[in-house]
Amino acid sequence: MAVQINPSILSADFARLAEEAKAVEGADWLHVDVMDNHFVPNLTLGVPVVESLARATDIPLDCHLMIEQVDRWAPQYVEAGASSVTFHVEAASAPVRLAREIRAKGARASMALKPATPIEPYEDLLPELDMILIMTVEPGFGGQAFLDIMLPKIRRTRELISKHGLQLWLQVDGGVSTATIEQCADAGADVFVAGSAVYGQKDPAEAVRALRARAEA
Ligand code: DX5
Ligand code: ZN
Repeated sequence: MAVQINPSILSADFARLAEEAKAVEGADWLHVDVMDNHFVPNLTLGVPVVESLARATDIPLDCHLMIEQVDRWAPQYVEAGASSVTFHVEAASAPVRLAREIRAKGARASMALKPATPIEPYEDLLPELDMILIMTVEPGFGGQAFLDIMLPKIRRTRELISKHGLQLWLQVDGGVSTATIEQCADAGADVFVAGSAVYGQKDPAEAVRALRARAEA
């Protein structure tokens, strides 16, 4: 699978989101972090902003929902224009039903795991999903240090995907930079979210190219 780089708008200027989306020309997806101040101790944006962003830009939206009652909310993000919707397994009451609903509405279904959540109990759910997100920081904030203790989990997840002959994408999110992306790629990740390592740089488009080059190395 080709490497994909998904800049996270959490580190962008929220008053200029459409321009910030254009500033990452060459990126594969735009990663949109939705936080509700309950599942994580931070608050960002919701359905109306995703709706406007989907209208304002051509880049597909990868919505990462860090919210409670996600079974109720996730389908609304598909309707708002997200092409991929990620729910946290810790917040979902019926992950299989939810993944099926997201797919039935026409988006890619993805499931995220916080650092302390193991992948093994979810092995049988993998065929229901298009992507697994392994968090490499505790979700809630941009700019945190990469947790390299998550590398074995990335490796195990890739092994499970291969064992079942599946085509799932394996995304990593948190502390991904030119210093850490190679380790993630070596462990089997192929979709890389980067907030501060893209929008914290003078030239975000160049930062995307640099990340891609390192991941492909
Ligand atoms: C954190 C979010 C991330 C965040 C990553 O909970 O899910 O997407 O934007 O930011 P960096 O890349 O700066 O760690
Ligand atoms: Zn995220």
